[in-house]
Amino acid sequence: MQTIRAIKEMQALSTRLRSEGKSIGFVPTMGALHEGHLSLLRRSKDENVFTAVSIFVNPTQFGPQEDFNKYPRDLDGDLDKLSPLKVDAVFFPDAGEMYPEGFSTSIQIGHIGEILCGASRPGHFNGVATVVSKLFNIVMPHRAYFGQKDFQQTAVIRKLVRELNFDIDVNVCPTVRETDGLAMSSRNAYLTKEQRKAAAILFRSLMLGKDLVVSGRISDARRVKSGMMGLIEGEPLVGVEYVEVVDAENLAEIREIKTPAAICLAVRIGDTRLIDNIIIDNMEKLV
Ligand code: PAJ
Repeated sequence: MQTIRAIKEMQALSTRLRSEGKSIGFVPTMGALHEGHLSLLRRSKDENVFTAVSIFVNPTQFGPQEDFNKYPRDLDGDLDKLSPLKVDAVFFPDAGEMYPEGFSTSIQIGHIGEILCGASRPGHFNGVATVVSKLFNIVMPHRAYFGQKDFQQTAVIRKLVRELNFDIDVNVCPTVRETDGLAMSSRNAYLTKEQRKAAAILFRSLMLGKDLVVSGRISDARRVKSGMMGLIEGEPLVGVEYVEVVDAENLAEIREIKTPAAICLAVRIGDTRLIDNIIIDNMEKLV
């Protein structure tokens, strides 16, 4: 496994691999790796000759009051998790390498980054779009892998790739969950034991939402949302930021549910913000 800190070195390696006709798969991450990240890497390993992962806690996607400083960083632990997977290269630049003095370019992704999580995290998705564009230009992958866990992020990246003509195949992989259904996340480490127990309500409410739509045949999104909110509000440690039913393609809010739809939610547990979602892509299949 090669570890690379310099942009020029990563680009030189990718240029050589491409000239040799080798396919490059890429998984961008912010580290504190868990099974969710590793599932993306396994998929990339299956589909490409060469797999690169980046580890970079990107300052431009954190708001001033957010958890940039306390975001978990564990490079040695991450490298230990990566080596059995036989990942070919780890790119971990420092902030000065990615954003040298005077850096000022930013990608404005527009409305799709201003709704749902973007409403409470202004600028977040512009920061994601900017860093992912840079990483794409540095790693030059043929295929890139993202988790459905961050569903709005996948919609932002698909739009970015389409509109800026990146010649990259974007793959969205299923959410990996703990045994009680909680989506794996680096931020789960912030939770106390009690909060961690309470967090199971996220997945239970998504299951209820799916059940109301698929088995209960409820197509009024407001009724599905209020059923889910009622369940979550029964858990005093969890505060709802939003529960929304959206068109899974463009994230537009929908009143009358038709597939493919996504139920997306964000909650706060203490100081920790957690998100999750479920896609209902075929009502018949799910019954
Ligand atoms: P990070 O939160 O580290 O996530 C890296 C990738 O892992 C993302 O595509 C995310 O959706 C995926 N992922 C996280 N938890 C997952 C889970 N439980 N199951 C499946 N996939 C999961 O997302 C980011 O970093 C950053 O915004 C980044 C894209 C790297 C840009 O800075």
